[in-house]
Amino acid sequence: MKKIRIGLVGCGNMMSFHMNGVNKVEGLEVVAICDTNEANMAEVAKVLDNPFCTTDYREMVDKIDAILIALPHHLHFPCGMFFARHKKHILMEKPLCNTEEECLRLIKECEDNEVVLMCGYPVRYMPGILKLKEMVDSGEYGKIMQMSVWTEQLTTCTDQDWVGTSCLGGGQLFSHGCHYIDLLLWFCGNPVSGAHFGTNVGTPWMLKEGTSAVTMSFENGAIGYHGATWGARGTRMGYDFQIMMEKGLLEYDHQTGEVKVYDKTKLHKPGELDHSAGDYELICKYEGNDGKQTQYEMSHFVDCIVNKKKPFTDGLSALKGLRVIWELYNAENNHTLADLRGMGLSEE
Ligand SMILES: NC(=O)c1ccc[n+]([C@@H]2O[C@H](COP(=O)([O-])OP(=O)(O)OC[C@H]3O[C@@H](n4cnc5c(N)ncnc54)[C@H](O)[C@@H]3O)[C@@H](O)[C@H]2O)c1
Repeated sequence: MKKIRIGLVGCGNMMSFHMNGVNKVEGLEVVAICDTNEANMAEVAKVLDNPFCTTDYREMVDKIDAILIALPHHLHFPCGMFFARHKKHILMEKPLCNTEEECLRLIKECEDNEVVLMCGYPVRYMPGILKLKEMVDSGEYGKIMQMSVWTEQLTTCTDQDWVGTSCLGGGQLFSHGCHYIDLLLWFCGNPVSGAHFGTNVGTPWMLKEGTSAVTMSFENGAIGYHGATWGARGTRMGYDFQIMMEKGLLEYDHQTGEVKVYDKTKLHKPGELDHSAGDYELICKYEGNDGKQTQYEMSHFVDCIVNKKKPFTDGLSALKGLRVIWELYNAENNHTLADLRGMGLSEE
């Protein structure tokens, strides 16, 4: 089968993670790369098979079928529009674009040109997360009472870095939390209301918040929580996903790759659980969890191109999460609760 020829734009931090994944994907060949910073481009070129290199992404357009865009956020829209107009399938790093209008225009341009538009939300495709979703959907553990997602990391920024400027398009919640709002919506369904509190304490380089706490309620009665910081000088939670269900607590710990079920009620029946392992049951453990595991999202992108499928994280689903975030920001500014009803996009 003919391989999909992909180009990579933006050879910075995130592209280095993609380099761990991209060579593991069948049916894909990186043929061209682009960065205005030639040193960054050379680092990416090292792990590839002699790709075409350019500082101007327009020069790669005739050589590729698809493009992975990992640029500063304000450049997602112009770069995406360029490749959509040239009928190239697009895997866009999150957040899709910086405004609702840009998202809608890019989605329409991709539809008009019949190309795949997928947002890079690798968390959605990680085996540990897929396992959690399978367990929730099985019905074995009852309904979701509450889902909590913690991300605690230290993100630094120099004076030259776009992360500390308005190019970011929002704060930590918009820039990074979009992964986890997307996840909460995927697990818990349609949101009803919510609140966000952000602070800049500990991350003075950020224009908006560097630390966030979000709480949301959902139509099915579930509550969602997301606590996140870019200012963690130390962390115990790291990246942790917990779902409190009627019949136990499900957890995916991204550091260890472990999926566990905590169920203290079983302690009343001696012998059912191995107490030496604590009061939880280890369901499975995924190895190689140190990176962002982008090979899974990339495989899905290739599958969507080859088999003309709609990506799980397509443009509209990415926009849905961003709308929730923008509404949470608006409500925070107005000291009100965010009304999150009608964000389902089912009408569009
Ligand atoms: N999925 C994830 O977990 C994750 C993690 C980090 C970053 N990201 C996303 O990846 C994207 C890039 O972020 P990053 O942290 O890699 O940023 P970065 O600053 O490290 O890299 C951006 C690169 O783009 C290059 N660049 C800037 N303007 C250019 C232009 N006009 N043409 C070509 N190259 C240009 C820069 O020289 C730089 O090498 C963002 O959308 C970010 O949100 C995703």
